[in-house]
Amino acid sequence: MDTYVTSQQKYINEFDARQFLQTYHRAKDGILTGEFTIFVMKHLHETFTKGGVRGHTLLDFGTGAAIYHLLSASEVFDEIIVSDLLEQNRAEFQKWLEKDPDAFDWTHIIKFVCELEGNGSLQKHLSDNLRTEVMDTPVTSQQKYINEFNAKQFLQTYHGAQDGVLTSEWTEFVIKNLHETFIKGGVRGDTLLDFGTGASIYHLLSACEVFDNIIVSDLLEENRAEFQKWLEKDPDAFDWTHIIKCVCELEGNGDDCDKKAEKLCSKVKEFLICDALKGKPFDPVDVSPVDCLLCCLCLEAPCKDMKSYCEVLKNFKDLIKPGGHLLVLSGLNATRYYVGANRFSLLSSNKEDLEKAFKEAGYQIEKAVYAPRVNNSGMEVADFRGKYFIHARKPRSSQILLDSFGL
Ligand SMILES: C[S@@+](CC[C@H](N)C(=O)[O-])C[C@H]1O[C@@H](n2cnc3c(N)ncnc32)[C@H](O)[C@@H]1O
Repeated sequence: MDTYVTSQQKYINEFDARQFLQTYHRAKDGILTGEFTIFVMKHLHETFTKGGVRGHTLLDFGTGAAIYHLLSASEVFDEIIVSDLLEQNRAEFQKWLEKDPDAFDWTHIIKFVCELEGNGSLQKHLSDNLRTEVMDTPVTSQQKYINEFNAKQFLQTYHGAQDGVLTSEWTEFVIKNLHETFIKGGVRGDTLLDFGTGASIYHLLSACEVFDNIIVSDLLEENRAEFQKWLEKDPDAFDWTHIIKCVCELEGNGDDCDKKAEKLCSKVKEFLICDALKGKPFDPVDVSPVDCLLCCLCLEAPCKDMKSYCEVLKNFKDLIKPGGHLLVLSGLNATRYYVGANRFSLLSSNKEDLEKAFKEAGYQIEKAVYAPRVNNSGMEVADFRGKYFIHARKPRSSQILLDSFGL
């Protein structure tokens, strides 16, 4: 009889990742080590290094736990996504990424590729390079933000009327949750502070109905200048009409777009420069505690891990009145986003870690909403897999006392 196709279950049960590497890729007598590996590496070297096939992302399908075919690619792609059916391959690959002493030794092959590329002595460079392209890239520096973040290009790519990556699903999520919080939910007061505004206004359109003053802020002068253009009705300002219209419809005033824009302009009192990573993010400016701090698509940009995210939340407490509100909305499980050709890293966050961070920072969580990303188009531009909204409160001092006595 014809041989049958090996089932997935057999792969899951019987495929030994390490044994495969030893049998096929071992230095001296691996079955693929000579002729086949040379064939692959020579053709990929010609394609990537000499042939000009290059770009942002290379997806390697069915990687197993092997790296030999990715070595030339790591020179010409910013990121490499590896994939496989089997967890055991992922685990074995991970060992190599983490320089685990028990990881498979690919030195003989790395050496060969280095020689092909005319860099016989650069084995370490090539393997480190491959590791960084596969692993999460390091956190984007503030200097990179200052040099490379183009405010106008960000708005067009993410909030453009026709095809902005955030225009439908993300924006709907934000304006719906903020409408419920501000207009229906009774969160209101004297001052709202928006942290990491960028040059965006969409998340402030409901807030302007229930706060007397809005302070906006960002790390970048570039964003302040672009925001200012909108306030001043500069003909070159970004056109937010499509989103203003959606919010007006949500509020039952479909035709009042101009009035809404006017109202928001009149409530925005200042644009401050801030840095989330400073203990006092507005230093040297003194900001009195506010009724509500809003933060939309920001904290995953500067924070390198959840510890740092939690630190930022702790520092925010000095900016919020006792009993005041903290509203954070952002993407889940993201690693990066692009503005033009420039890549910016994102901290990958999830429900459990986020809630832990809010609690550890001393907030009471009033409401948390999580939703998966439904439309995956634009994934190559921004790779968030879901979205979250957390409404938390800074406890009043009496509440802190009760909590400390476990009451
Ligand atoms: C993805 S954009 C989001 C902008 C806007 N909130 C929106 O929803 O469209 C991330 C923003 O975070 C800002 N940012 C990056 N690092 C920061 C830091 N250390 N402190 C404050 N803002 C920062 C950037 O300047 C950028 O405007």
